[in-house]
Amino acid sequence: MLPSSLEQDTERKADLLKNVPLFAGLDAVEIQALAEVAMVRHVPSDAIILLAEEEGDTLFVIVGGRVKVTVMSEDGREVILSILKDGDIFGEMSLLDGKPRSASVISTAETELILLRRPDFLSRLSRFPEMASKMLATLAERLRRTNRQVESLALLDVYGRIAGTLLQLADDQGENSDQGLTIAERPIHQEIANMAGTTRETVSRVLNDLERRGYLARDGRSIIIQGPDRLRDDFFHLGTPVIK
Ligand code: CMP
Repeated sequence: MLPSSLEQDTERKADLLKNVPLFAGLDAVEIQALAEVAMVRHVPSDAIILLAEEEGDTLFVIVGGRVKVTVMSEDGREVILSILKDGDIFGEMSLLDGKPRSASVISTAETELILLRRPDFLSRLSRFPEMASKMLATLAERLRRTNRQVESLALLDVYGRIAGTLLQLADDQGENSDQGLTIAERPIHQEIANMAGTTRETVSRVLNDLERRGYLARDGRSIIIQGPDRLRDDFFHLGTPVIK
């Protein structure tokens, strides 16, 4: 007998869940149990998935696509805290502390998500120490990044902030080639501006200048950083000097 569409659906969800780093320590039976309660959702680009300040009891896993985590000022200015992609999770903060959503999450490409409800997620988290420590590592990494971003916004000039944003993007999604470190599908200038705390016009001007001075090259939506060390040394001076 052919499996019913419900069974096919659960099988597909189990396949997707298996490949999520957070669930890598779960055995097949657990993955299957999680697949039975998980929901899949497709969203187009520019969809608001989570709204800051709303109550929420769902954890989201990105199966494919890309989202931005943002906070918005009253006059509509947006600060991008992070860009998340395949395998990343979001929505864990409200799940863990029961408070409203700390930020909004908006898709920047067509995105496929797996949704898990609070009790389904928390029961696994308490039973699987490996999952809990992965979760803590994710939170620690986010805090490190956010610290770097705060430091950068407070201490660097606009060249430093834009250089830092490019180096962070390269760290997340860059690929090495003979020409340098390529960020394929870079965010649009407005998004780079919202990550670096500046305006779209300034991003265009600084990128043109950095290109003219041989720090980077552009090819459609790609940015190729020619010598990331040079970009870092010349513009991105962060961190307290170590006293020896
Ligand atoms: P939650 O507060 O439930 O909803 C918004 C989500 O955005 C939050 O959980 C985290 O998953 C994510 N988030 C909030 N702040 C950051 C940040 N600084 N870096 C990356 N992700 C974040």
